[in-house]
Amino acid sequence: MHELTYTSLADKNISTKNLNDILHTANEFNGANAITGCLVSHNGQFVQTLHGEKRVIFDLMDRIKMDQRHSNINLVWEGPAAKEVFPGWNMAFFSPDDYTNPSKGLLDFEKKLITLSSFYKADSASVRIFWSIVKDLCLHQANQT
Ligand SMILES: Cc1cc2nc3c(=O)[nH]c(=O)nc-3n(C[C@H](O)[C@H](O)[C@H](O)COP(=O)(O)O)c2cc1C
Repeated sequence: MHELTYTSLADKNISTKNLNDILHTANEFNGANAITGCLVSHNGQFVQTLHGEKRVIFDLMDRIKMDQRHSNINLVWEGPAAKEVFPGWNMAFFSPDDYTNPSKGLLDFEKKLITLSSFYKADSASVRIFWSIVKDLCLHQANQT
């Protein structure tokens, strides 16, 4: 098995519908292809970690790189992985619609992150890097307010 983590910049017009579409596509494809992992979207950025059979996650990465809903895709880690870290496919995002009610949006987002973090296993390099980037995204948000 293999794992990777990348970051990217969300399209500036990204909508809640776009994010839900990505979630739907990923649920179907990742579920059918034994890919696990986690995607966080926050503050105009994405960070995603994927775990699965090497050829399958690299083929998926080729499609993700072509996706117009984001840019500046930066592979920060890839390497062999002993076992899966997340028990399935997960995604947390701070919905653009939530900006009308930021405190509720943030609360929901925090809840999702806390749920995801309970699946964290520190023996995966890819996932350690993933959470360190998520932390930076959240701190960046805190600095702005
Ligand atoms: C940030 C981001 C993450 C994505 N993650 C996945 C994913 O994990 N699994 C998936 O099947 N599609 C994911 N997609 C969607 C793919 O980019 C692509 O739309 C999908 O694989 C369908 O490809 P196709 O349009 O070439 O058939 C993601 C898209 C974005 C923008």
